[in-house]
Amino acid sequence: MCGIVGYVGGRSAQDVVIDGLRRLEYRGYDSAGVALVHEGSVEGRKKAGKLANLEKAISEDPLPVSTIGLGHTRWATHGAPNDVNAHPHRGYGGRVAVVHNGIIENFDDLRARLEEEGHQMVSETDTEIVAHLLELQVDSGEDLTTAMQRVCRRLEGAFTLVAIDGQDPDRVVAARRNSPLVVGLGEGENFLGSDVAAFIEFTREALELGQDQVVTITREGVQVSTFDGRPAEGRAYHVDWDLSAAEKDGHDWFMRKEIFEQPRAVADSLLGRRTRSGALQLDEMRLSDQELRDIDKIIIIAAGTSFYAGLVAKYAIEHWCRVPVEVELSSEFRYRDPILDYSTLVVAISQSGETADTLQAIRHARTQRSKVLAICNTNGSTIPRESDAVIYTHAGPEIGVASTKGFLTQLVACYLLALYLAQVKGTRYGDEITQVLGQLEAMPDHISEVLAKADQVYDLAREHVGSRSVLFLGRHAGYPVALEGALKLKELAYLHAEGFAAGELKHGPIALVEQGLPVLCVVPPRGRDQLHDKMISGIQEVRARGARTICLAEEGDTSIEPYADVLLTLPRVPVLLQPLVAVVPLQLFACELATAMGHDVDQPRNLAKSVTVE
Ligand code: G6P
Repeated sequence: MCGIVGYVGGRSAQDVVIDGLRRLEYRGYDSAGVALVHEGSVEGRKKAGKLANLEKAISEDPLPVSTIGLGHTRWATHGAPNDVNAHPHRGYGGRVAVVHNGIIENFDDLRARLEEEGHQMVSETDTEIVAHLLELQVDSGEDLTTAMQRVCRRLEGAFTLVAIDGQDPDRVVAARRNSPLVVGLGEGENFLGSDVAAFIEFTREALELGQDQVVTITREGVQVSTFDGRPAEGRAYHVDWDLSAAEKDGHDWFMRKEIFEQPRAVADSLLGRRTRSGALQLDEMRLSDQELRDIDKIIIIAAGTSFYAGLVAKYAIEHWCRVPVEVELSSEFRYRDPILDYSTLVVAISQSGETADTLQAIRHARTQRSKVLAICNTNGSTIPRESDAVIYTHAGPEIGVASTKGFLTQLVACYLLALYLAQVKGTRYGDEITQVLGQLEAMPDHISEVLAKADQVYDLAREHVGSRSVLFLGRHAGYPVALEGALKLKELAYLHAEGFAAGELKHGPIALVEQGLPVLCVVPPRGRDQLHDKMISGIQEVRARGARTICLAEEGDTSIEPYADVLLTLPRVPVLLQPLVAVVPLQLFACELATAMGHDVDQPRNLAKSVTVE
């Protein structure tokens, strides 16, 4: 999830691009770069770290004045966040410069072919191959627009690309497939941005592009075409947000924006995981198949929301791989003197990659000869750096302190890990793994279905302003969902909230139930009849004692109706994948309730996004 800016007009392109990048820095801040067309060639600077590093580099080594250029602020996916991997990337002769957001899934193949033809890449990115491919086209006499159309037809995956040609001082060309890009329409100038925040200072007239479209901006106008070169049209609209709303894509909070980004975040986290033959591949795995086969115990360590992702992972890994899994709070782990050796795989889950408790836990595990695999959202952070293997989630930067899209993408990574282990250990047939992967790939649409019903959850949340306590019940993979729902409410609404395993209720927590107490119940799908029916018994028990039952159950589950004071329906999905949809209404509920109570949702009191002290 990088930030992209393009400009052509009469102003200093450097100033417009840097201003735009500053507004897009929330999308990524691993590195930043800018490139301009000047006297028949491309001039650029790029620097690892925040935008301030790039500005310093430019002040020390100024760029020439130019009125056409592009820029990028990076959230690293392929390759470490360093100067070389920073965008823009150049073609073999330095004529073309390209910035990119997304993942090019067939980049290995394309890179191998280019290398066979004698091309040498300097970075580890999937973007650099696009610069080479474009440059081959323009060197053969094509204009940059045609070059982009031709190249995009060869690319698989999700991408926004923006390019300039040093020998063409009049056009910036961009393309998009499943990744954001908007055009800003000016007078004698035009803009490109990952979102309208990039250019809102200069124009509020925008053009939305469709899928698989190429757009060319010049000083005189904008032309849109398909990847096949047929003319196309964008949808023009007026932006009436202020700058702060623009950065939040029109939402009041980053957290709400991030909740609504979840279908995309989940889809991105699934990208590039299959080989041509359909088998699962996790290309950031640095553990051999034999090392994985030797593993006879897994310990998952994590904190906060990431810990609950670990609890879901236990159900999936034990079921699909038949390996025992323990899930442990990272702050407790090393102090109980855990039994570890080379056949134990320690899985550390951390959105930030910097949580001190989790970091100390993996250091301890490595001293005991255990292999450590990190599931992390932050490329180049400490936990993945100190681990033997990494699965990166592709949620993009999460700004709201309470984790949402970070959690969903961690779940995806956990499912992928479980399926990968099942593939390597042979505990599931290949076609079963393919079937689950297909079900996972359908989840972004199911999450969108849940989000489409957000208003129903908001109404419900507002009814609960003034509640003193809320309970959450779940079973099986729904139990961690209940825990996460309660945590969200504590974090954001500062309410007493507790999550319980529904079967445990009768052993104590039921004493808390009194007249009118809201109890949110995550009902398992009906495929698991025993689980489902036992959950209904739990709901009956609390309802009989006066609780107000708010039930999340799959659509068409009429058996729940007699026991639900409020029924929120979820799409029909497999039981192990249900957390991906079931947690979403709970996120929306907490966000809206906290908003209605007047709290700062993005920065709740006493909390920090990344806790780097033990
Ligand atoms: C902090 C945050 C939580 C987060 C936890 C673990 O407490 O407030 O939202 O879940 O840290 O963070 P990590 O980055 O390791 O996933």
